[in-house]
This record gives sequence, structure tokens and C-alpha cells, in this order.
Amino acid sequence: MRRLKALAECSDEPNGITRPYLGPAHRKAVDLIGTWMTDGGMSPRIDAIGNVIGRYTGIGRDAPLLLIGSHIDSVPNAGMFDGTLGVVTAIEAVSHCHAAGKRFPFAIEVAAFGDEEGSRYPSTLGGSRLLAGIFDDAILDEADARGMTRRASLAAFGCDPKSVAADGHRSERMLGYIEVHIEQGPVLESKGLAVGVVSSINGASRGMVEVRGEGGHAGTIPMRWRQDALCAAAEMILAVERRAQAEEDLVATVGHIEVPGGAVNSVSGLARFTIDVRSPSDHRRQAAIEDLTGELQAVAARRRVAIAMSFGYQAPATPCDARLSNLLADAVRSQGVSPMRLPSGAGHDAMSFRDRAPIAMLFVRCRGGVSHSPLEFASVADIDTAARTLIDFLERLAATT
Ligand code: GLV
Ligand code: MN
Ligand code: MN
Repeated sequence: MRRLKALAECSDEPNGITRPYLGPAHRKAVDLIGTWMTDGGMSPRIDAIGNVIGRYTGIGRDAPLLLIGSHIDSVPNAGMFDGTLGVVTAIEAVSHCHAAGKRFPFAIEVAAFGDEEGSRYPSTLGGSRLLAGIFDDAILDEADARGMTRRASLAAFGCDPKSVAADGHRSERMLGYIEVHIEQGPVLESKGLAVGVVSSINGASRGMVEVRGEGGHAGTIPMRWRQDALCAAAEMILAVERRAQAEEDLVATVGHIEVPGGAVNSVSGLARFTIDVRSPSDHRRQAAIEDLTGELQAVAARRRVAIAMSFGYQAPATPCDARLSNLLADAVRSQGVSPMRLPSGAGHDAMSFRDRAPIAMLFVRCRGGVSHSPLEFASVADIDTAARTLIDFLERLAATT
């Protein structure tokens, strides 16, 4: 909890926690984590994309690799557990093993990824995708709201974007990828369970919509002549909500809109908004995006505005591995907790490893299911259960490897 609080102090805004990828607060967090890794017997390194990775060597030179990770970037005005809980718990578990002089028939790397929320650049999971060997070089040219590219931010952070390709090619055999994360939903709390085992992670698409109308004077242009970009966007946003409401398990969100050059006395000529669509079924997610594309184009045509839409980020739904999840369930049971299985509506770095390694995730109960909010809370007792579960899991994995 002391370490979680120290990370919460790393913020680019004075009030609350705002720690975007590759900002000054992210840099401070990386340095803190590096110190904790060293103290816990791991050798930390910062890779080309800003991940900090601490290696705990295994027995034998050809020992396979177990990766335990989560993220340390945050949404604006975040809580103090999302992502960081998994990183701190992994460091704690390995530090405990180190203090006990324990080595495993596998190497462990604890990874603190920097780009999971995607609140700075249009796409996300860049950090874990690099480690999974599926990094798309094109995203280095993505720009943030101020026009700064990833490439430039990486250089300012102290990373070398030119070594991305080399860092992305690792031939080491991976035994698995494990992630501990707060649930960010109310299920474990409603069942009275401290922790639970994730069954699968919903797939997600993220897009940008740009609506171009005709700007003008709010006092002089008669209503019937207007090609108001913001009004068109408003109608489109409600169409997004309606499409998601019509289908069980589908969620769609417009979380950000901007009206460049907007003013109280101007008709909007330009509006831009984001779309986030998620479903347990990749097929139904794609179908929803096709429907939405058609509906938004129809709104644009009726309102005589131009529309440009791009869904530049896709993450397919990711099932968790049965063998690792069963081991994790045994470890949960060893803590006196009944191992409930539950799906994840939120995205996680674990998704990046879908085709690279078996994955498993442990969720930790959070109060009221609240997340992406300063009110996010997980108790010391529940975090303790998670840490002990993770240590027990490592021992079970060692016994079967
Ligand atoms: C990350 O929190 C996401 O699910 O968008
Ligand atoms: Mn998270
Ligand atoms: Mn989050």
C-alpha cells in the first residue's frame, strides 16, 4: 500500500492522479519501480517503448520465461489501483521469493507497461504488444492532442525509437503471461469474494470520427441553412448509444468530443469524437461497427456534412488458458477463497499475448465496482490475498514445469 501511494504521488496534474504514457509522472514512476525491482532481487531495464522490466533469473540457462505484468499509465483523474496494483503485487511476490532464496525452473520478468489506457495516443497496448512481438511500427507516427508524435515522446523520455524493432524480436520460450488487476466491476464484491479468476477478456475497437460542416455566425445564419457539425455529431453519438442498447453484452461509448475553434457565438464547422466498442464476440463487435458506419453516414448525408471515420485500433477477444487458470484457481482455493470465474469487460495488457503465450488473470475485489475514478478502492486484506495467491501459483507452476 505504501508503494501504491508512492505511485499515486506521480501525477502530471497537482490534484488527483493523471499519469499519461511518456509524461514526466510516468518517468518518475518508472524510476521508482526500477528501484523496487532492484531491492527485490530483479535486474530492471527500460526497453525501447518505455516499459520497465525486471528479470529474476531461473534455474538453468535455458529456463523458459514467465511474464507477470500490468500497466503504470493512467486515465485522467484516475484511481490508485488500476494497473499499478498488478505491478506492485508482482514485485512483492518476486521480492518475497528472493528473500526466501527461492529460484524457479523458469525465469520471471515483471513488466510495468506504459501504454495501456491509450488516453494519450489513438491506439493502445503498444508496450505489451512490443513484448508479445506484434508491435506495429506505424503507431510511432501517431500524434497526441498537441501534435507530438510517439517517436518524439519516446526520445524525450530517454528511449531510442530506432531500437523498437530489435526489442520486439525475442525468441525465448514463454511459459505464460499472468496479470493481477482490480476487477473494475461489482461482481466479486456482490459474491463476497476477495479475488477471482478471469475466464476471458472482451474484444475492443477504438475509432475517431471527424464531422465537417460549415462554420459561421450564430446570430446571422438562419437555422434551415445550417450545416452544423456539432449538431450532426450529437445525433451520431445518440445513434452509437442506441445501437449498443439494442444488443446484450455490447457496449459502445463516446468518451471524448472536441469542437476546434468552437465559440458561444459560432455555428460549429468541425467536430471530432472518439468511439469505443466492446463485445465478448469479435463477430458481433465487427457487425456493430459496420452498422454504425452506415448509420453515421446516413446522418451525415441528411445533415449535409462530411464525415471521416477510422477504427485504427482493434484488440480481439482473448480467452484465458485453461491450464494456467486451473492452477490459479487452485492457488485461490489455497487462500480459503472459492475460485469464481468471471469475464473481463475492461481491456488488459494480457490481450497482447493472445497468440504468443497462454495467459491467466487474477481479479481483486474493488469497492462498489468503481474504477477510472479517484474513488477506486481495494483493501489491504484483499491485496494481501492476491499476493499470497500469486506466490502460491508460482510454486504450483514450478511443481508442474
Ligand atoms: C482500459 O482500461 C480499457 O479497458 O480501456
Ligand atoms: Mn487497467
Ligand atoms: Mn484503466
